[in-house]
Amino acid sequence: MVCLYLLSFLLLGQRGSNHTAGRFLFNQQDSRTLSRQLRAKNIVCNPKISRPLPLPPKVLSNGTHDFDPTVIVLSFDGLRADYLSRGHTPNILSVGTSGVVAEYMQPSFPTLTFPNHYTMGTGLFPSSHGIVANMFYDPTLGEDFNYRIPDKSWDPKWWGGEPIWETAVLQNQRSGVIMWPGGESLRPVRPTYHVRYKSSTPVAEKMDTVLTWLDRPREERPTVMNVYISEVDTAGHNYGPDSRRCQKALVEVDNAVGILMDGLRQRGLDKVVNLLLVSDHGMSYVTPTQSIYYDDYIDPSELLLEESLQPHLAIRTKDPKRLDHIYKTLKSAQEKHNLQFKVYRSHEIPERYNYAHHPRIAPVVAIAEPGFVMTRRDMGIAVVGVHGWDHEAEEMRAIFMASGPSFPSHGPERLQPFENVELYEIIARTVGLQVEEGATDGVRNGYVSRPC
Ligand SMILES: *[C@@H]1O[C@H](CO)[C@@H](O)[C@H](O)[C@H]1NC(C)=O
Ligand SMILES: *[C@@H]1O[C@H](CO)[C@@H](O)[C@H](O)[C@H]1NC(C)=O
Repeated sequence: MVCLYLLSFLLLGQRGSNHTAGRFLFNQQDSRTLSRQLRAKNIVCNPKISRPLPLPPKVLSNGTHDFDPTVIVLSFDGLRADYLSRGHTPNILSVGTSGVVAEYMQPSFPTLTFPNHYTMGTGLFPSSHGIVANMFYDPTLGEDFNYRIPDKSWDPKWWGGEPIWETAVLQNQRSGVIMWPGGESLRPVRPTYHVRYKSSTPVAEKMDTVLTWLDRPREERPTVMNVYISEVDTAGHNYGPDSRRCQKALVEVDNAVGILMDGLRQRGLDKVVNLLLVSDHGMSYVTPTQSIYYDDYIDPSELLLEESLQPHLAIRTKDPKRLDHIYKTLKSAQEKHNLQFKVYRSHEIPERYNYAHHPRIAPVVAIAEPGFVMTRRDMGIAVVGVHGWDHEAEEMRAIFMASGPSFPSHGPERLQPFENVELYEIIARTVGLQVEEGATDGVRNGYVSRPC
């Protein structure tokens, strides 16, 4: 039985872009090949593509205008997979109803916004693209990255791989990026259109911008659009995943999807343009009793860069000779008091995290159990909801659904869960962008399995 659903197709011919540059950044090809095989075995029902490949996407018309294959990707920060069953998101659900919907999309570790948006953009794990957390230290550069400081974080030296908005430009298509993390980095190839991050921008305005782009003449119109939407995450952090404010944010972003869908229908584009709805990670409550106060055991002033109140604590010591002591102290404290975290030397981090081999990953990493945070006595708890845990934790699950000419349209097609490193190739194939074999950490080549 054929267990793979073909979302798109393979294009033949010349490669339009140089995918070798910046790919295997840290010479980890061997370990990656191994884990690719393991994951392929675990996740894909039937890795053999046993049906003929469909034709490449073709130019479509809405009656008056020709449209090149086009895709709009909306990412809802912090939209946990089970939020969709709450009855607040009819527009979002309708995309899946008329196309495909995954039970959930699995984020990458750490389940934070910057690493995961750049993973969705590049098809690479954080350990491959280099944005290994929202804040981290690079021992080679001797500098730290901080997602809140644009002057620092947009320097191209931080951003590896090739995001889809660059792939589009390199292959003579056009891209438009609205606030998607990584889209502002000052890499040599820039998206054709770009809207800078501004937290006060209403989500409806972002939808208007997308529609304005669609109204441009064909030779100026972006074919790949990536839109970042923050409301649900903000409400989840401040009020918690079950709060009324979080429901309100769901209604707000769902209304915006309605605006976009109306705009597409008015232009006769609902069967012409592909729409992909995704999220980066979920959200979970934390309480003071779920805090692990690491300053009860170690002296925080010995640490190099602390991002406190996170599910994971990257540990580097100002004096490298103290690292071993700190590791052992935390490990024995954990064992003695049966604390809800694990501490690893970087080579001990379980392979399923795909979090290894990058110099930006700290030599010692403590990872709290889902629902618990690593924090200090003097920090208190400033938020209600948190994310960043184990990417396989149920509370961290993200969403994926899609509709449009590149997807089956005979009713809701339910897909097996898959990892977000697959997204790059799914996007690429909907618009006929070519991806070299092995250029991403995905294992499905743009195909996504459905239940066997
Ligand atoms: C691709 O990039 C690599 C590394 O920058 C370079 O050595 C190679 O010549 C390039 N290949 C093509 C086809 O441009
Ligand atoms: C087709 O799309 C173009 C560009 O958005 C729009 O100006 C035009 O009105 C649309 N045509 C129809 C028949 O809706």
